[in-house]
Parts: sequence; structure tokens; C-alpha cells
Amino acid sequence: MTDRTRTPFSVTTPGEQPWWKSSVVYQIYPRSFADSNGDGIGDIRGIINHLDHVEKLGANVIWLSPIYVSPMDDNGYDIANYQDIDPLFGTLADVDELIADARDRGIGIVMDLVVNHTSDEHAWFEESRSSRDNPKADWYIWRDPEPGFTAGPHGEEPPIEARPNNWESMFSGSVWEWEPRRGQYYLHLFSVKQPDLNWENVEVREAVKSMMHWWLDRGIAGFRMDVVNFLSKAEGLPEGEPTHHGYTNGFPHFYYGPRIHEFLGELRRDVFDAREGTFLTVGEMPGVSPEQGRKFTDAESGQVSMVFQFEHMDLDHGATKFDRVPMSVRTLKDNLSRWQDGLADGGWNSLYWNNHDQPRIVSRWGDDSDAHDGGPLWRSSATALATVLHMMRGTPYIYQGEELGMTNTQFADISDYRDIESLNYYRQSVDAGQDPAAVLDSMAWVSRDNARTPVQWDSSEQAGFTTGEPWIPVGPSAAVANAAAQDDDPTSIFGYYRQLITLRRELDIVVHGDYHLIEAEHEQVFAYERHHNGQVLRVLANLTGSEARVPAEHFGGQVVLANMERHNREAGVLAPWEALVISV
Ligand code: GLC
Ligand code: CA
Repeated sequence: MTDRTRTPFSVTTPGEQPWWKSSVVYQIYPRSFADSNGDGIGDIRGIINHLDHVEKLGANVIWLSPIYVSPMDDNGYDIANYQDIDPLFGTLADVDELIADARDRGIGIVMDLVVNHTSDEHAWFEESRSSRDNPKADWYIWRDPEPGFTAGPHGEEPPIEARPNNWESMFSGSVWEWEPRRGQYYLHLFSVKQPDLNWENVEVREAVKSMMHWWLDRGIAGFRMDVVNFLSKAEGLPEGEPTHHGYTNGFPHFYYGPRIHEFLGELRRDVFDAREGTFLTVGEMPGVSPEQGRKFTDAESGQVSMVFQFEHMDLDHGATKFDRVPMSVRTLKDNLSRWQDGLADGGWNSLYWNNHDQPRIVSRWGDDSDAHDGGPLWRSSATALATVLHMMRGTPYIYQGEELGMTNTQFADISDYRDIESLNYYRQSVDAGQDPAAVLDSMAWVSRDNARTPVQWDSSEQAGFTTGEPWIPVGPSAAVANAAAQDDDPTSIFGYYRQLITLRRELDIVVHGDYHLIEAEHEQVFAYERHHNGQVLRVLANLTGSEARVPAEHFGGQVVLANMERHNREAGVLAPWEALVISV
């Protein structure tokens, strides 16, 4: 029997519950974290050199975005070899050292598992595309042109109408790419350099499982599983309609396919349950509902520890993510509460505001207008948002720099952008006749590059990230949103995140309490209670820039954490962006 309380990678955590329920995860996007050799690109040695920062913060798990061999079409999410490290980042020996160093500090390493697709430069795909009858011919999703169409005399691509269906890539354009050597198309839900693996093929599943065992043998603590709800595609790959809010054409046919629970169940059985101890598995699952999330995470019958859901991230998206629509506090708390309630009974949530694909939370739903000189709006909005998230039921994730209040980029020129999604979107929109300035505006708001500017270590040139030229420009908030300025200051954003993590460690109720939304109709305040063994913990957060009133009785109890000093606090009044945690 697997002992669910046991971490296979370090110490045993006490209690009946899986260790990852009381954990806090810190996400590192290695390319942008810390550069140790002056080539302008973050690397594994840079991570090792900065483990103090993560340890001091109090996180006990690090999720590493991909560091495997890759042509870097999508910054490493296009993998050419799962079992080696890209020389840009270092070597396998460096990774082993990182795993060991982290373990000594009680920190487990979670690797990114990207198995919906590989790079087109992976040996599997190179073989698969070479002919119709090679041993890996069926490892990817190949289709003939529609009936009535054929390739040209030299294998040229037939007209567009010959494509197997009308699905759109997440990165713009069709999902179908022509391969003259086979006279067929392959499917790529992401870039043309990210062909989708064929999970219907048992050999593919076996190859992935043995790769996972190889990594677990190195002593890692689990996997973050990239777009893992996309593995099973609907039979016949039917024509798509844009029916799923904000997602691409075709989405309904692959985000929750017929065999998804089966495929993930096979990984749980043959990889995780087959080993001693338990691992943290988090499935990135765009589009899933609370009901589906509940099924994936059920303690008994589920397949993963938790999922990354996207409903709250999509609340300010219109027809696509690049169309910004207003979002209210009401909408946000309705949504997050639906997830809290939906997974209350037997499921488990992940909690996040940020990752390498999302704009910075303080710029998105906080107020970064005075960030350049470290002003109170920036500080209190960042900490109010953090309070709301960290006191909920679930495992919190902190994305590098979030704990410092890093802001969006404010890039004004297309030449500053690096991300394939943004560049493709720009080209497509401008080609379609849109005003380039307007396109740049929406990118400044939502581009993934907002999350990818270098981590700000100090206020020196290049923010202490590199001694060379960074691969992407440093963001605008480096003077104040940096580790040197904040690591030892208890009143900093970093200091506040530390306190939130300490509360989670000290109070059982934060990990295990039930969640109850209060003041559900309030337009400004996100307020809820946690209940556990007769105790109550109350969270009050004003998520707006104006004063807010709530019934005075909600202030009753002992304040265990507050994001601002307030003398003569009038019961019932919350200052702009004020957040309180009260023990009743
Ligand atoms: C996930 C990753 C994203 C990547 C995509 C394709 O959404 O988080 O960065 O581009 O999958 O692998
Ligand atoms: Ca480097």
C-alpha cells in the first residue's frame, strides 16, 4: 500500500493527509530566473545559487518549467529529448545537484511533463514523418487529405479545403501541417513545431511511462502535467465550432476527450501507485469545469493530486484572450467559490494567480500605478490579492517574482516581444488589417511575456539577473520589486508572503478547514470563513481602491494577519485594498 503521507523525496510529514495538501509550491521559469554565466539566459546553476530565496520564502516544492533539450520554439515546451538537459540550462549533473541541494532544505522538485506533444525535432517524430510504414508511423496523429483531394506531383500540399478539419491552433492558424514525405497532414494543437502524440497508441503510453519512472528514480517529487486534459481527441476529429468560451475552434473535441480518465488513470496506476510514497501531480487543464475537476482529483478514484483550472483566468477574456472585458469582484469570488465548493467533498484545489502564461496579478487585478516608487497601492493590492488566495482551501502556487510584486512589462514595441503566441497573434491581426497600435495595446495587457521578464534580484543594471544582455528586457519595476530590497524587510510584499506561508504551517484550519463565502453580494469585498473543529478563521479583503463597509461584527476576533497598519480602525470599514485574517 502506498503511504500517502510519505514524501518519497525527503522528510515525512505528520498527519493522515497527503503531504502535498500542506505544501506551498514555487514555480521557476528557468530561462528568466537567474543567469550564472553571463549569456543572458537563466540556467540551473542560477537556480542553485538562489535556493536561499525560495527557502526563506518558505515554499517546500519547486516546479521547474521545462529544461530539456529543445529547439526553443516555445521556450522549451517543445521537447526534443525528455531525458537530457538543454546545454543552455546546464547538464544532468547540475539537475542532480539541484535535486540534492533542494532536498537538504526540505524542498522537493517537480518537473514539467509535456507529453501532449513533442518537438518536431524529437527522434520519435523524425522517424514518424519519414514514411507511412516506419516503426513509429502511428506515434503521432496523421491524416489523409479530404476525399477528392490529392497531393501535387512532387508531394505538394493540396488546397486548404483538403485539410482534415477546421480546428485552430492555440497559437493561431490551422492545426494541420503538411508532410510531403508521407503525403499526409499531422496535427499540432500548438505550434507547427509541436506535433501531438497519438495517445491511442499503446507504445506511446509505454514510452512516456518509462520516461516518467526514469525521472522519479532521480528523486523528484512529482510532475506538473502540461495541457494534460488534451491527450484524448474525439473519435473522427469532428469539425469544430467555437462553442467553448474564449477557446479555439475545435476545443470541445479535445479538452475532455472520451479516453482522458482512462489515460491518466493508467499513469496513476503504472507510475505513481506502483512506487512507494506519493507524488504531487498537477494536471494543467484549460476548460475543465468544477465537476470535471472533482472527478480528476477525487482522493480515491481520481487520477491526479490537483488540477490547474482556468475559469478564473478567463474571466476578463472576451472572444479570445486578447479581447479584454471588465471583471468585477463579484464575478471573481462567485467563480473561485464555485471551485471551493465543487471540490470540497473529496477533491483538491490548486490555488494560483500567476504562471509563465499569465500577466502579472498586481497589474491585472491589483493596482500597479504607483509601483515605480514602491507606493501603497501597489503594495497593498498585491498583498490583498495574496491573502484571498492563500487562505483558501487548496495548494497555493507562487510564480517567480509574484512574491516581490513584479509588474507587467509595458513593452511598447513589437521588437521587445519574444513569445511565439504573441508574435503569431500580432502577425495574424496586422495581416488581417487591424491597427498595429491597438494590437500592441492588447498584448501589453495579456501577453505571456509579461510573466517572462527577468526575476529582479536587486536594483543594479539588468536587475542582477545577468552580467550580459538578458534574452528579454528587464521589466519596469526593478527598482523596488527586487529581492535585495525585500528579503529582509518584514513589511515588504515578500515579508507578507512569508507570513501567509507561516500561517498555513501553523494553523491546521488553513489547510483543512471548510470554506464558506460570506457577504456574497458585496461588490468590493471578498470575504469568507474557514471552519474546522469548532474554530473559525475569517478573511476580509477589500479588492478595490475605495473604502468599503461591511457589518461591524465581522471584525470580531483576533487579527492574526493584516496587510496594513491601521490605528483607530473603525469596525466595519476597510481601507482601499485592506486585507485582514481574523481568528474568531
Ligand atoms: C501549456 C504551457 C504553455 C505552452 C503550452 C504548450 O499551456 O503552460 O507555456 O506553450 O502548454 O506546451
Ligand atoms: Ca546562462
